[in-house]
Amino acid sequence: MYLCSPQFNNMKFFIDTANLAQIQEANELGILDGVTTNPSLMAKEGIKGTDAIMKHYRTICEMVDGPVSAEVLSTTFREMVEEGEQLASIHENIVVKIPMIKDGIKAIKWFSDNGIATNCTLVFSAGQAILAAKAGATFVSPFIGRIDDSSWDGVTLIEQIVNIYNAQAFDTEVLAASIRNPLHIVRCAEAGADVCTCPLPSILGLLKHPLTDLGLEQFLKDAKSMQ
Ligand code: E4P
Repeated sequence: MYLCSPQFNNMKFFIDTANLAQIQEANELGILDGVTTNPSLMAKEGIKGTDAIMKHYRTICEMVDGPVSAEVLSTTFREMVEEGEQLASIHENIVVKIPMIKDGIKAIKWFSDNGIATNCTLVFSAGQAILAAKAGATFVSPFIGRIDDSSWDGVTLIEQIVNIYNAQAFDTEVLAASIRNPLHIVRCAEAGADVCTCPLPSILGLLKHPLTDLGLEQFLKDAKSMQ
């Protein structure tokens, strides 16, 4: 089971994709702490059928040394428990991703009582985040980009949940999801998110500054003049 590690007191970087090439590229940067997927991201890779799904998750777990969120496709308590147990059996780093619905909360509590890590997904309010933490979720995933899409400020929700979890001493980690750009990552770090799960372009976007490019160009030019 994935356990929150005391060595991590800075914001963790997860990549939000099921694409193996992108996972590999982010992993090679040396800054990757885990992976999140969802049914849409898996479908985008053309993965079909239980065996192929399980095989894909196994491959991701073998590539990255950190938690890998695998989402259940069912929505009833019994089915989610059955499916989640099957997913958790793939690898010790699998985190069972469960939607924020009534049966989902029951399933999170069941997994928590049975030592299986969970990520409560599709979270859009502080109330939902409180319920997820109370049920014992390992991670809670507020979708900040989708909140921004509806003309609210997603990062404000991250701040609110971080404050509540600190005030109430909940162990659940705040995993900022639905990241759309590098500024989201910076603002989530400021807000105290425990984890940011990002598409590869948002991670790579953190590298960019025109003055870095101009400065390096000049340094390389001057370096040449010395040879
Ligand atoms: C990851 O855990 C979420 O499913 C994902 O970040 C959602 O991102 P989207 O809103 O860009 O689809």
